[in-house]
Amino acid sequence: MYKQLEQRGMAEPPVNVSTLTRMKRSGDPIACLTAYDASFAQLVDQAGTDLVLVGDSLGMVIQGHDTTVPVTVENIIYHTKVVSRGVQRAFLVSDMPFMSYSSKAQALENAVRLMQEGGAMMVKLEGGAGQIDIVAHLTAHDIPVCAHIGLKPQSVHKIGGFKVQGHDDSEARKMVEDAIGLESAGADIVLLECVPSELGKAVRDAVKVPVIGIGAGPDVDGQILVLYDILGITQGRLPRFVENYMEGAESNLDACVRFVRAVKDREYPAPKHCFS
Ligand code: KIV
Repeated sequence: MYKQLEQRGMAEPPVNVSTLTRMKRSGDPIACLTAYDASFAQLVDQAGTDLVLVGDSLGMVIQGHDTTVPVTVENIIYHTKVVSRGVQRAFLVSDMPFMSYSSKAQALENAVRLMQEGGAMMVKLEGGAGQIDIVAHLTAHDIPVCAHIGLKPQSVHKIGGFKVQGHDDSEARKMVEDAIGLESAGADIVLLECVPSELGKAVRDAVKVPVIGIGAGPDVDGQILVLYDILGITQGRLPRFVENYMEGAESNLDACVRFVRAVKDREYPAPKHCFS
């Protein structure tokens, strides 16, 4: 009965929460990418990515909005469904969109939909101490949760732009405390976006669960980037942590493989990708 989830007829077993925790403990970097459709999900999975995120960044890179705010639960369910058909080995995480987790009951209902209708294995939500009760409620129902702290793109209109977070000491201390609180509430992963590298390391050292960084420096347990950024599809001014892996690559698959290898070999992020 349990064979399906453990093997799916593959040489390597699929990644699960325990795999990721083990990787943190053994210092094996976790390589993560976003995906939004079945074909790219297959490439990303084939490239050896450990975790695939159906991010609400789809609002920007797929739908053409300026922010992630307009993304709906229906959008995420649709994209999770199609991505899940392309993923074999990687752990599949889906974003809870803006205002889809503003109460315990709403969060539980929407998380269940992402898992049952979409096929997500974990849900990700943005927020620090203010989300501890929501995270505790979801994890009390055995819903795996990734807590997204640092730059929270859903709060862009409140914070006044996509900016580096945790620059001053009190803000940095608060972020470490938030990570500890979220872990205590049951979060299985912390995603840390756009913070100085020193803070990335402090958060990584403060919790036992894996810390996945995006613009959080080299001293975290894993790295995630938006697929369309590493494939050179995204136009305009890009954040400094983005690297275009299509340059010099033979194919989209090759670019994804190069990203995964760079993370595993700790060549990404280099100092030029980091904030200090
Ligand atoms: O939505 C997304 O793609 C994200 C990334 C910033 C990791 O949350």
